[in-house]
Amino acid sequence: MGVLISGRGSNMMALIAAARHPAYPADIVCVVSNRPEAEGLKLAAAAGIATKVIDHEAYASRAAFEAALNQYLQSQRLDFIACAGFMRVMSPALIKAWRDRMINIHPSLLPAYRGLHTHERALADGAKQHGCTVHIVRPELDSGPIIAQAKVPVLPGDTAESLAARVLVEEHRLYPQALALLASGRIRIEGDQVKTSS
Ligand code: GRF
Repeated sequence: MGVLISGRGSNMMALIAAARHPAYPADIVCVVSNRPEAEGLKLAAAAGIATKVIDHEAYASRAAFEAALNQYLQSQRLDFIACAGFMRVMSPALIKAWRDRMINIHPSLLPAYRGLHTHERALADGAKQHGCTVHIVRPELDSGPIIAQAKVPVLPGDTAESLAARVLVEEHRLYPQALALLASGRIRIEGDQVKTSS
């Protein structure tokens, strides 16, 4: 599998750490960033993973950027792609090319709080529970069949930062587990549903 990042790469590192175990059902072949300065690139390289920068600013259009990205991903002969803080909206054509093989982690209990600033919005609503979701990527932003979710309580006095930190601990636990379910064939995607294989 390959991992797409744009920033610090803490979820990427959780996946890399999990995949180091011989029994883990996936190998991480490459990490791709659309931002040359992403901190995660250094972490991936230090962990011995091949890294690649495909800088969206170097391309004249989204279509040209995505063509270069897809060409690289296809060249790596990947079975799955994990988006881990990849901050580019992808067009339906790219998502279709990886249908049911591209997953994402989102810092909310989807379908609540699609998009950005999820922790701030949960606090503003007075939500009592918050969390994270691993899902199959579909063209509509932060939607698609849900593989796994983890909940955390919202506590009195929480700030967006304290809540984000509590959610992040769960993200690092959940993402490798969810990816393992998919990569091992223990779950399969049927239309918009995630089914447990018998
Ligand atoms: C995480 O909160 C993830 O859920 C969201 O972006 C953040 C990325 O953090 N999609 P990191 O780069 O994995 O540390």
